[in-house]
Amino acid sequence: MNENIIHEILKEYEMKRDRALKDALNRKNKLYKEIPELEKIDEEIKKVGIEITQSIFKEPENGRELLNLLKERLNNLKKKKAYLLESNGYPEDYLEPKYECNICKDTGYVNRKRCKCFDQKLINIYYKQSSIAEILKKENFSNFNFEYYSDKPYGDKPSPRSNMKNIVEFSLNFIKNFDTTAESLFFYGDSGLGKTFLANCIAKELLDRGKSVIYRTAPDLIEGLRINKLNADSSSYNEYLELLKECDLLIIDDLGTESITAFSLQEFFNILNTRLLLGKKFIISTNLLLSEIMAIYPERIYSRIFGHFKLLNFYGEDIRLKRKMII
Ligand SMILES: Nc1ncnc2c1ncn2[C@@H]1O[C@H](COP(=O)(O)OP(=O)(O)OP(=O)(O)O)[C@@H](O)[C@H]1O
Ligand SMILES: [Mg+2]
Ligand SMILES: [Zn+2]
Repeated sequence: MNENIIHEILKEYEMKRDRALKDALNRKNKLYKEIPELEKIDEEIKKVGIEITQSIFKEPENGRELLNLLKERLNNLKKKKAYLLESNGYPEDYLEPKYECNICKDTGYVNRKRCKCFDQKLINIYYKQSSIAEILKKENFSNFNFEYYSDKPYGDKPSPRSNMKNIVEFSLNFIKNFDTTAESLFFYGDSGLGKTFLANCIAKELLDRGKSVIYRTAPDLIEGLRINKLNADSSSYNEYLELLKECDLLIIDDLGTESITAFSLQEFFNILNTRLLLGKKFIISTNLLLSEIMAIYPERIYSRIFGHFKLLNFYGEDIRLKRKMII
């Protein structure tokens, strides 16, 4: 997980807590002027609180009786305070700090575990970072339609629909076992067969489970690195590279449409190799045939792809064309 993101979130929590405490203090000071008796009760409450602590240390033997007495006094004072607030038209908890999340009181943690609100913040950040937040509203499993794939055998191969069912089943297992397996997915096949669509479906499922997902087309990926590298400040390149290396899932769409240069091959190899060594997964999609992959990319790249990726072949009729003909 990205340390910077965690740091930012914790800073945000701290600011929220500070604000909640400050607001509560402001309300209190105002109310003390309006209802002076309240301040007296609060002082009493504080005193009793101190006495309770002292009594525990001083007289451990017969402390219990004293403790009960003090606790009763404390309760009475609290009741009095609540009554005073209410009779002046304020809710009982008017002077308490108002946290955005009452479960963790804006600390982000409950019993040393991340609070739900923390997870949600991470999800929101990961959604933004992925670059596909908008498209995922449409391209997700709830809109997945097998009807676009013919159920007739495809030459000597099984029907595109049954092929797709296998691929989807494989993808669902990929999501289910995301934390325990290191195998990546390689989608290859002609245009308009749903490679990007399925990658997006998977991305959404994982984002909703709090995983960080980055989507880039291969040209964007390389161009982003190139531009950041040109930048005089090397930190932007390093930060970008870190993002690509550290995210839980990196989707590289349209592999082979980037212009192939020494730089593009070096950067691609670097990301591929580093992530695989870290046990991090990819989804790569391409229009290229496996033989073309072997012709375009050096062995150190394609041997890693063939070794670490499940190769899934998409075939059938172009959905884009099909849709046009139906409409
Ligand atoms: N299973 C599906 N259910 C519903 N719509 C789909 C499905 N698969 C693809 N589509 C739609 O069909 C069109 C083509 O799909 P997609 O862009 O995923 O193809 P592709 O294989 O990535 O093509 P290319 O190789 O050209 O990138 C898109 O408009 C997409 O929304
Ligand atoms: Mg595509
Ligand atoms: Zn919380």
